Amino acid sequence: MAETKGGKKTFKVFRYDPAKGGEGHFDTFDLEIEDYYATTILDVLFRIQREHDQSLSFRYACRVAMCGSCGMVINGKEGLACKTVVADLKTPEITLRPLNHFPIVKDLTVDMEPFFKKYEEAMPYFDPAEEASEPAIVRPDTWERKAIDMATDCIACGCCVSSCTMAFWHKDYLGPAALNRSMTLLADSRDGLHDERLATAMESCYNCRLEFNCTEVCPKEISPTRAIKYIHRMAISQGPGLAQRLSPAPEPVALPAPEPLTPEMSRRRFLGRSAVSLGVVAGAALVGLVSVSALSAAFKKPECKWVSLGPLEKLTAAPGEVLTIYADYSLEDGFYKRQEHKPVLVEMDREKNKVTAFNSRCTHLGCTVHWDQQKKLFLCACHGGTFFPDGTVKSGPPPRPLDRYETKVSGGQLYVLEA
Ligand code: SF4
Ligand code: SF4
Ligand code: FES
Ligand code: FES
Repeated sequence: MAETKGGKKTFKVFRYDPAKGGEGHFDTFDLEIEDYYATTILDVLFRIQREHDQSLSFRYACRVAMCGSCGMVINGKEGLACKTVVADLKTPEITLRPLNHFPIVKDLTVDMEPFFKKYEEAMPYFDPAEEASEPAIVRPDTWERKAIDMATDCIACGCCVSSCTMAFWHKDYLGPAALNRSMTLLADSRDGLHDERLATAMESCYNCRLEFNCTEVCPKEISPTRAIKYIHRMAISQGPGLAQRLSPAPEPVALPAPEPLTPEMSRRRFLGRSAVSLGVVAGAALVGLVSVSALSAAFKKPECKWVSLGPLEKLTAAPGEVLTIYADYSLEDGFYKRQEHKPVLVEMDREKNKVTAFNSRCTHLGCTVHWDQQKKLFLCACHGGTFFPDGTVKSGPPPRPLDRYETKVSGGQLYVLEA
């Protein structure tokens, strides 16, 4: 049966006037549409404005799906008013409302500032790695051009961000459009900001839950989900070592030269150490129960504290073993004071006379990392991140190695500098 060419349609249009406040409401307009196939939603809005209510606010510019101004939610799904024809919408009643997650300026017009702020954070500009007198061309048959594909066609309409629930729940998430832009530059071999760009994108890309909403609604048929997966893969292959390239870790501190052991000393120390390894403190040293008290003095900078991890001689570990030591200290932030009790991962290399202390906070999303003595790896249970004994990433989503503390030995105590 042939579809009707035209007829009556009811349009429910969201109205909100900031001068009046409130939660907004829908106004209903009945329109006789001559040809469903030749009438866009933007045409409908012009008619409503001309024939019914001149105060109706909506945004447009190009009218040909090029400028990205007329994004809105049409019958519950994001789209461009200038690209959607009435025939695309099979219901007798059509609802039009503003994009989600953006502040409403008036009626269907939203404030796009949050969108462009995220876009800006993703470093959307190209910075050539090499100065060239001739334009450096990315040929159509190269892998990078194929990888970038249609992703450069984005018109910044905001439809994808409006459809993305993660963009709503995670305020710091750069979102599909910004990450899609980031991917177009990450895949470009001429880019001079690759590492910085990747570090920023990696911080964000794991917030995506691969819902594909963005891909479904994009009026330019781009798949931001595909772009985000591309960043995931790049994060896995290039993430390890990235932080090292951007800011090298501090050198491990040298331990004081070991005292020569006299026969008498040696017996006392042996007993002492045996007690340590078998008794309460030893258990603590091996599995991480040495608790130390707060340091209130000797702060070099107001925002950093040297926190004691206890007497160095009690920190006994077998070769290749990492100690988990709980540090208790107080932190002051303005008028707010809080007690911290957190594990510090300490690697003692008595042979090389070195000690290295790692922050146990996973560099992915902050879960606590623990040392697995059998696997000789640091493991994060949250998303399966694993780190080598030197703190560099072995596998999983963490974007950079474990953070290292600055350390010092003073008065026989080992200290870490806690920010
Ligand atoms: S990716 Fe698509 S939906 Fe998102 S802003 Fe660009 S054009 Fe719009
Ligand atoms: S695929 Fe990712 S970016 Fe796209 S809508 Fe889903 S969560 Fe958002
Ligand atoms: S008016 Fe430019 S994209 Fe719709
Ligand atoms: S928090 Fe995600 S792997 Fe550690």
